[in-house]
Amino acid sequence: MSDDRPTIEALQVEDRTFPPPADLAAAANAKAEIYDRAAADPEAYWAEEAKALDWMEPWDQVVDRSNHPFYKWFVGGKLNASVNCLDRHLERRGDKVAFHWEGEPGDTQTITYRDLHERVCKLANGLRSLGVQRGDRVAIYMGMVPELPAAMLACARIGAAHTVVFGGFSAESLRDRILDCDCRTVITADEAWRGGRHIPLKANVDEALLECPDVEHSVVVKRTGSDVEWTEGRDRWYHELVADQAAECEPEAMDAEDLLYILYTSGTTGKPKGIVHTTGGYLTGVASTHKYVFDLKEDDVYWCAADCGWVTGHSYIVYGPLCNGATSVMFEGAPNFPAEDRLWDIAERYKASILYLAPTAIRMFMKWGTQHPAKHDLSSLRLLGSVGEPINPEAWMWYHEHIGGGQAPIVDTWWQTETGSIMISPLPGVTTTKPGSAAQPLPGVTADIVDEVGTSVPQGSGGYLVLTEPWPAMLRTLYGDDDRFVETYWSQYQGLYLAGDGARQDDDGYYWLLGRIDDVMNVSGHRLSTIEIESALVDHPAVAESAVVGRHDDTTGQAIAAFVTLKSEVHGDDDLIAELRNHVAIKIGPIAKPKSIVLTDDLPKTRSGKIMRRLLRDISENRQLGDVTTLANAEVVSEIADMASDAHASGDEG
Ligand code: PRX
Repeated sequence: MSDDRPTIEALQVEDRTFPPPADLAAAANAKAEIYDRAAADPEAYWAEEAKALDWMEPWDQVVDRSNHPFYKWFVGGKLNASVNCLDRHLERRGDKVAFHWEGEPGDTQTITYRDLHERVCKLANGLRSLGVQRGDRVAIYMGMVPELPAAMLACARIGAAHTVVFGGFSAESLRDRILDCDCRTVITADEAWRGGRHIPLKANVDEALLECPDVEHSVVVKRTGSDVEWTEGRDRWYHELVADQAAECEPEAMDAEDLLYILYTSGTTGKPKGIVHTTGGYLTGVASTHKYVFDLKEDDVYWCAADCGWVTGHSYIVYGPLCNGATSVMFEGAPNFPAEDRLWDIAERYKASILYLAPTAIRMFMKWGTQHPAKHDLSSLRLLGSVGEPINPEAWMWYHEHIGGGQAPIVDTWWQTETGSIMISPLPGVTTTKPGSAAQPLPGVTADIVDEVGTSVPQGSGGYLVLTEPWPAMLRTLYGDDDRFVETYWSQYQGLYLAGDGARQDDDGYYWLLGRIDDVMNVSGHRLSTIEIESALVDHPAVAESAVVGRHDDTTGQAIAAFVTLKSEVHGDDDLIAELRNHVAIKIGPIAKPKSIVLTDDLPKTRSGKIMRRLLRDISENRQLGDVTTLANAEVVSEIADMASDAHASGDEG
């Protein structure tokens, strides 16, 4: 750093606190002692957590550090992920519901552990009959139907790695992923339901496979029943493939370090990275964190409303909950189909007790209004979770009041596709939460916040979030690209994992995530994070969501450009824009006052719901827009571009 300014300035002040409810704290799976115990001997802690799994052969060494950053966990141990998710529950939980599944059109399935075991074994046998072997890669491209987790587990059973491609991705994205990891088999469906429409999955697969000559088989679930093209010899109906298969299937004994899956993260730039997760450490990490962070009890009805196409679905719909014998809700459709209260209707009917969502969904619910949750009895909810982006304090409060009835604690969980399991989060029976803070690293996890040269920043200052010790569910590499793995995560600082996020710790040692490092703005030499200004805007009662970016400014280097979506019932005008600018100035100071504010119906988002600030920067600086086809809502971009050019043409506020 050229001067003594902090790496990222921290401006936001939040002084509301919420201690854990006494009854939850008294019965919690994790008590305060767990932090000290884990800190005293992290390897012993993780070894103890790993013992909760069923191992076919014990490990010889907890972690092998000899080849940094290529760590190995539970060296020599053998196990099978599907056995841990299914077989070991059969005796005690065979009739327990694994999934209350609800389709978008309203059809339902109740799937017990015994049912799921049988489905998985039959498909695993079916895959073997097609020639799929241990060590192969299988692409899965489906909507949220029960066959999706079954397919993941069937692959795991026979030692084939799956790569799930989110059903909202295009034929091209699917093709690139199939080619990158050389899949020979694809499991898909005729179509998926989404928002009342049919998504043509099989047609996309057909298009992708035109350029994937090595794919030998595509297995197709009949979901909507619409006509699909058929390639004889290659395409097989799922129901026909499994029809005559045995209901038992011998699982492969996998090495703890054998590949479990590859999951591609697109990020906002560059070629997608194939994140590699292996078996023993990953399962240990997800099962342990799922049990403690969600305080899972035998009779909980747990609902992670993510898609299995993302890591959240892998870790906290499939592997974590099933390892723990949980009963989950799984929902196929869109949250506003047929109406904006669909999630609350489902939560009420299944008496969901734990709900895990993304801030982008929460802000959408805020925009739709409180009348939708108010129509339903949500009193069964005892714990709420958030993941995927920093949660604005007002969104946290809204979630707390309107979904959690002012009672349920919120766990704001920070982690990444790369980390595999939750890293920073409150423990609901221990932590006094603060709206907008992910609290502290979990037991067994060690983090720090550093400046450009890797020195810890003083408490209160912003900097770069790093993880300082290996953890069991960590990514092992990028598929086929060890160099990029080292370069991306391990080359910035000696021995530290660079997460790519900004963060600060407050005086109580709580972590506040400040967004991606690439999004940091520089205004008159002050490095400002986007989230704090966005949260100040969302704090205003008229605002549902906002995105802030830095755009070039001759005087200040960068100027703050804000994009704001108002709540449904609010009408925006110039007076409101002036009021919003002042609101930011009052909340966090004049330096943070946006130079321009554009009101827009929606913000550009990735398909996993993250705001694409890079595009808003391009719009703000009148640059040619790059590829927008990876967006979930590409149509908003031209609308915002028109409004932004009007706003800038009519002169910014000084
Ligand atoms: O920027 C952080 C943000 O999401 C990134 C990881 O994205 P992805 O790999 O798609 O995984 C999302 C689900 C784990 C992080 O680098 N992020 C995730 N959770 C939080 C968060 N930012 C702030 N607070 C969180 N709780």
